[in-house]
Amino acid sequence: MKYLIINGSPRKKHTWEMAKQAQSNLDGEFEEIQLMKEKIPLCNGCTNCIMESETECPHFDIINPIVEKINDCDGLIITSPVYALNVSGLLKNFIDHTAYLYHRPRFFDKKALVLVSTAGAGEKKVANYIDETLRHWGFNKTYKIAIKCGGKDALETKDINEISRKFNEDVKSEKMHSPKFINILYYNVWRAMASSSDPIEADKKYWETSGLINHEFSPDVKLNPVKKAFAKVMYSIMKKVMK
Ligand SMILES: Cc1cc2nc3c(=O)[nH]c(=O)nc-3n(C[C@H](O)[C@H](O)[C@H](O)COP(=O)(O)O)c2cc1C
Repeated sequence: MKYLIINGSPRKKHTWEMAKQAQSNLDGEFEEIQLMKEKIPLCNGCTNCIMESETECPHFDIINPIVEKINDCDGLIITSPVYALNVSGLLKNFIDHTAYLYHRPRFFDKKALVLVSTAGAGEKKVANYIDETLRHWGFNKTYKIAIKCGGKDALETKDINEISRKFNEDVKSEKMHSPKFINILYYNVWRAMASSSDPIEADKKYWETSGLINHEFSPDVKLNPVKKAFAKVMYSIMKKVMK
């Protein structure tokens, strides 16, 4: 199994210790990206990635190799400390550069482990935000560990070991989970936008060339009849709303 670790902390301390503890429960090859070292300039808000193509981002040469690595891994471990009740600026800047992935989701066969450390508050909210972002990007399943660090017992919390072992077993199984209703809703919102009468051309092109426009959800993942019906209804409601 290939694991990619993206560290959203500028230093290798509490959050990184969580990542190392989780890693000790995973079998496979590891590659790490320290966002601090990538020196990604701030997103300048040009919207080229969304409106034109991700290749038109002025920072494409830095961002694309990271996106390619996500595409190549079996499991992603993505981390952030809580900063002012949110993700670190480092991680947010990376997420801003990948805003086009909300519109043009992929990674439907990927699973992720989200690790968040805090001194005292905000860890669940931050883990939920990263989880939501990954689900917009298409991720099949996310596991979350959010803990208060600093205390000497923090890393001994059974959550890190239990959850990272579950994540490892799941990645190894290569099993695809049935998507949550919310994931089906997100997918069909973007799908309806791409097929509206006035779509963003880059979205339309992606959804058409990938063939996803013709599917209620990615064909990588099976939908049961109830979820299929839900997807159809959501798509038709969204198409009406987009009109
Ligand atoms: C700029 C900054 C903002 C922070 N904001 C919060 C906060 O809102 N709530 C909190 O409980 N801890 C906050 N902390 C503490 C960190 O979340 C906590 O120490 C974390 O474990 C640090 O991870 P690291 O060792 O990987 O840097 C903040 C720390 C920094 C440097």
